[in-house]
Amino acid sequence: MEITVIGTGYVGLVTAVGFAELGHRVLGVDRDAAKVRRLQAGDPVIYEPGLAEKLVAQQGAGRLHFTTEIAAGVRHAPILFICVGTPSLPDGSADLSQMEAVVRQIAAALDGYRLVVEKSTVPVRTSSWVHRTLRLYTRPGIEFEVASNPEFLREGRAVHDFFHPDRIVLGVPSQRAGDLLGEVYAPFHCPKVITDPNTAEIIKHACNSFLALKISYINLIAELCERTQADVHTVAQAMGLDQRIGPEFLEAGLGYGGACLPKDVQAFIHIGEEHGLDFSLLKEADAINRRRVDGILQKLKRALWILEDKEIAVLGLAFKANTDDVRGSQGLAVARALLDSGARVRLWDPHAAARAQELLSPSERVAYTDSIWGALEGAHAAVIATPWEELRALDLARVAATMLTPIVVDGRNLLDTEAVRAAGLEYHPVGRPSVAFT
Ligand code: UDX
Repeated sequence: MEITVIGTGYVGLVTAVGFAELGHRVLGVDRDAAKVRRLQAGDPVIYEPGLAEKLVAQQGAGRLHFTTEIAAGVRHAPILFICVGTPSLPDGSADLSQMEAVVRQIAAALDGYRLVVEKSTVPVRTSSWVHRTLRLYTRPGIEFEVASNPEFLREGRAVHDFFHPDRIVLGVPSQRAGDLLGEVYAPFHCPKVITDPNTAEIIKHACNSFLALKISYINLIAELCERTQADVHTVAQAMGLDQRIGPEFLEAGLGYGGACLPKDVQAFIHIGEEHGLDFSLLKEADAINRRRVDGILQKLKRALWILEDKEIAVLGLAFKANTDDVRGSQGLAVARALLDSGARVRLWDPHAAARAQELLSPSERVAYTDSIWGALEGAHAAVIATPWEELRALDLARVAATMLTPIVVDGRNLLDTEAVRAAGLEYHPVGRPSVAFT
């Protein structure tokens, strides 16, 4: 069927390409003309494994086009997915201005029934606002409906997640809307949760906040492990074997970053408060997460005594592996904290360096290197900030030989303690016993 996807960021572009591969005829809409030109030329703009090939293949098959015109998107399809950004306002609540602007443009172009579907993460009751806005700006007598279909894909494996969802959530106001979305998702055989739009909106925030809680919980346990010479890795492993808990999202380290978890926790706290509820549980998760960077700085200070004028390599700037996204990057947060302490930083990332430079410019104290070895050369210490495979597979003897003082702070618990010991590194992981300099 015909589908329009408005907003071609990480979620929108993967969704557009995915729907096209499923055989739908998709029109992607974005207000950024330069981006649309690149997309039209087969350049996905973002780095996401597998995306570039699929984009080109679907364009070649004639099933995927891009435009800047929302009106063209409205003409193209009976179903319009809104995938625009919903960033944080200073008070933590979601900024829905992009959403509202898009909805007004849809309203102005409506010429007959359309199903408008929110895919962006939005606060509960947004669908009522979308509905009211459409009513206000649409010519009388024109029918439309609003549904919520939250997206759960993870950056770095978004293409895989699109085709293999754990579940699909359809928050629909009517049988008609349910049938339309049912047709879109007919090829999927995973569980489908059919519910009302408010419930669907809450599901998305509840999921991301729960994942953040899980990560902060294991990071709190890691802090206890550090004070008691216990090993958080084994604690997490044993916890994960309990089927009620499960093994995922129990990796202690630098905490959660990215464009979603930090923002969604803030937004959910705000939503709770708006409805007279105390969401301190989530405030604590956020507080634990915020002190992760300081924990890494403390380890460096304990190892180096004085940070001023030290050369520190920060390995990994993407907020997680397999993406070039540096929004909410803990690696950049570590780099900034080091600069505040007077240190110099040498930054490496295989995919995210260009985007990182937009947020932290190269300077006398900030160097970007093309190779891990360039970052380690002459460094007093190195911090592992992103779990890139390249870092997991490091030649540790060469690390020891390259650095001025072979001190590694492992913010992602990537390295094997025995291998580190054998290579002669001083090693400080998170929530696990350190290896002393010999
Ligand atoms: C998240 C949700 O997982 C996804 O369902 C939603 O659609 C968007 O938000 P994403 O932001 O891509 O996805 O990243 P995710 O894989 O959830 O990781 C978030 C952060 O938590 C990363 O910084 C990651 O390094 C960190 N993390 C994850 C941990 O610190 N420990 C873990 O055990 C897992």
